[in-house]
Amino acid sequence: MTDPTAPRVVPLIDQRSISLPTPAAAFLAASRLGANGLITDSLQRPLRDLRISVTDRCNFRCNYCMPKEIFDKDYKYLPHNALLSFEEITRIAKVFVAHGVQKIRLTGGEPLLRKGLEHLIEQLAVLRTVEGLPLDITLTTNGSLLARKARDLKAAGLQRVTVSLDGLDDAVFRSMNDVDFPVADVLAGIDAAQSAGLGPIKINMVVKRGTNEHEILPMARRFQGTGIVLRFIEYMDVGATNGWRMNEVLPSRDVVQLIHSELPLVQLDPSSPGETAERWGYADASGQHDKTLGEIGVISSVTQAFCGDCNRARLSTEGQLYLCLFASKGYDLRTLVRQDAADHDLISAIGHIWAGRTDRYSELRSAMAPDASTGGRRVEMSYIGG
Ligand code: GTP
Ligand code: 5AD
Ligand code: SF4
Ligand code: SF4
Repeated sequence: MTDPTAPRVVPLIDQRSISLPTPAAAFLAASRLGANGLITDSLQRPLRDLRISVTDRCNFRCNYCMPKEIFDKDYKYLPHNALLSFEEITRIAKVFVAHGVQKIRLTGGEPLLRKGLEHLIEQLAVLRTVEGLPLDITLTTNGSLLARKARDLKAAGLQRVTVSLDGLDDAVFRSMNDVDFPVADVLAGIDAAQSAGLGPIKINMVVKRGTNEHEILPMARRFQGTGIVLRFIEYMDVGATNGWRMNEVLPSRDVVQLIHSELPLVQLDPSSPGETAERWGYADASGQHDKTLGEIGVISSVTQAFCGDCNRARLSTEGQLYLCLFASKGYDLRTLVRQDAADHDLISAIGHIWAGRTDRYSELRSAMAPDASTGGRRVEMSYIGG
């Protein structure tokens, strides 16, 4: 076991340069693959969800994601020309959609810091799935700029938002975002998103034992019956800078038990295959789900891995394709796009990369010692997004 009193060791290395990206062009040598929306990986998992990081910057410094000691004034963020342009992102997204993607999530860092993001949303909103349906387009935000931007985002074609919120108590919230940002402004952002029709809104609360577990019940009380789905996320060992320790993980089963002791819950069926969250509905007096009270979710990637049907691909700000949140290497799509590759080449390269995918990090970690993590050689979450 790790000694809980031992000082944290935070390696000072830039995770983006730990391993060179694999050129996606290497996959062009293989036989040409087309796209029919049915691609599956080596473990028979389809490709349904594309998460696109549009910036590696954030105005918060949540300790579990962008600790201040690393992401300080000397930290080298990506230069503007390294970022994929909106046209490049849309071109790549189109190929993923041809392979079966149905949902696009824009992430960061903080995606609302990317200038003109509505223009990207407008371009993505016209894409259609292989079945001819509109995509589910959503965005994960810390909510700080939402009050200002919610209406324009909706008008551009964004359907819904997920807001990160780790507590209601102002002091706890300010200390967790580590930039003294007031909780009232995020709550105003959530209200603005609700008024703009960016729903169903989800709220993600990362639970750290000893830091914000006492916020679980106030958060549940506050959002019960509002139509907002509150999800509790187990603190994960993503990246290499957050000094993760198993003893700071509060297992989801404890969260469910705690809420159930005051606000009775019943387990609900998954709403789609490959879902990250286990759903629990608030129960009425007869123990049935009362839809007017709504539901919560728990995301248990530490204590109950959900890699078995993981259908998520991640595109970094600079155009690297990652096949897992915990991956240590990406595939360089940007070079391919900037070398004017033909559409069929992009389709073929991405198809081959997905077809060869074997990633299932959380499952493998669960098979190790309870406090094990494979250590440092991993990409940061602020770089590829949640
Ligand atoms: P919905 O479509 O709105 O249900 O979203 P989602 O649950 O797919 O996405 P969201 O980005 O809100 O995920 C919530 C959190 O779950 C993220 O912030 C991560 O902490 C975690 N998470 C999401 N995807 C993965 C994944 O593929 N693997 C692991 N281990 N954790 C994930
Ligand atoms: N553990 C769990 N979730 C995390 N996030 C970022 N870092 C972590 C971590 N170490 C998630 C949070 C946040 C989103 C942007 O990423 O859910 O809301
Ligand atoms: Fe920013 Fe979200 Fe990371 Fe917090 S969790 S530092 S808000 S990207
Ligand atoms: Fe998917 Fe990797 Fe997360 Fe498993 S650990 S669910 S494979 S992203």
